[in-house]
Amino acid sequence: MALDEKTYGELREIAGRYPEARSGLLPMLHLVQSAEGRVTPEGIQACAEILEITPAEVSGVATFYTMYKRRPVGDYHVGVCTNTLCAVMGGDEIFSRLKEHLDVGNDETSEDGKITLEHIECNAACDYAPVVMVNWEFMDNQTPESAVALVDDLRAGKEVTSTRGPRLCTWREAERVLAGFPDGRVHEGPAAGGPSLVGLGIASERGWTAPAGSGSTGQPLAGSPAEVAHKTDTSQEAEAAAVEEEAPTSTTAAEKKEAQ
Ligand code: FES
Repeated sequence: MALDEKTYGELREIAGRYPEARSGLLPMLHLVQSAEGRVTPEGIQACAEILEITPAEVSGVATFYTMYKRRPVGDYHVGVCTNTLCAVMGGDEIFSRLKEHLDVGNDETSEDGKITLEHIECNAACDYAPVVMVNWEFMDNQTPESAVALVDDLRAGKEVTSTRGPRLCTWREAERVLAGFPDGRVHEGPAAGGPSLVGLGIASERGWTAPAGSGSTGQPLAGSPAEVAHKTDTSQEAEAAAVEEEAPTSTTAAEKKEAQ
């Protein structure tokens, strides 16, 4: 088996987190990607053996979701949103410029092995269009020039911070977080940005609340939009802390993003 014993043990650990072991397949495949740089035949076989399902069933999942890669990914996965809003706001131009700059096509890796470029669908970040993602962390309001500077910084090994998240790690490190092994960066960066909170600020100013039964407390958040944004950040951090306390190895910010 190509996977080392540590990885094999961690795959078993993930499977053991769930009442039905096969529920652990998605994070297990992320761990395979972290260890192997892609979903390998050996990784598929290991998941199948641990979960007592067939390799065809594992393969069916791995080929259904676009986050699972059958070809090796570079040190950084750079996704350019080319869905409707980002496209008209400049996403198509960014993607075209990066293809030319990196001398790659879609889903290809630069010759130095650093950057894998892929055009991706809407990331529910349309209020920051055009959006680029590095290892699924947001880089908001990009231009062709800023995107070129971004990949050049990553290739040069400079520290880069997501516009709404933590310092960027490598793709393999991010895959380990998605497998449920936190890297301690969950609290870095804001939990929400101003444009996403405009509606909340307006509701706050006017005393609007969500209808009863919607899960809302029914109480308007008092204060200016900036104060409301701070309260939202604080309550999200408290919620994340509570979840971590309850299940220290099974919930991360990256997992939450993936679930959205
Ligand atoms: S269209 Fe790009 S994030 Fe929605």
